[in-house]
Amino acid sequence: MSSRRRLPAVTRAVLDPPPDAATGAAVAAGKALYHTYCSNCHGDSATGSGVLPDLRLSDLIKSPEAFDMTVRQGSRVDKGMVAFKDEISPQDLENIRAYVIHRANEDKKAWAAASSG
Ligand code: HEC
Repeated sequence: MSSRRRLPAVTRAVLDPPPDAATGAAVAAGKALYHTYCSNCHGDSATGSGVLPDLRLSDLIKSPEAFDMTVRQGSRVDKGMVAFKDEISPQDLENIRAYVIHRANEDKKAWAAASSG
């Protein structure tokens, strides 16, 4: 038997968002859009609903093109992710992406503060 003990399993996913580079206005616009179109399925404040993907953790927020493919073009319609081409303009989508990135960065900071405290 090994005397070395395994580290406990990580209970939280790792947040690794892109930098929060958007303007406050873009984030605010994205927040309103998110709560109109996305929060029912993806959770309030982009924290995930527990069942559907937590967008803060999604790699797709790193790429405007990949985000557009999924959200506007409907590349995952067969998996239950609706297409928003008619409702959401490319500019609005960038604002939503900015909001999710902003939320991911906020929580990354909060989690880091909590675990170092
Ligand atoms: C009717 C429910 C519903 C709504 C509303 C919805 N989604 Fe989704 N979304 C889903 C489901 C279900 C999936 C999982 C698809 C899969 O398994 O690949 C998903 C997946 C995604 C993914 C892929 C995440 C990943 O990395 O796997 C992104 C990005 C996404 N949604 C963004 C959005 C955005 C942005 C909005 C608002 C504009 C939105 N969704 C609104 C149901 C929804």
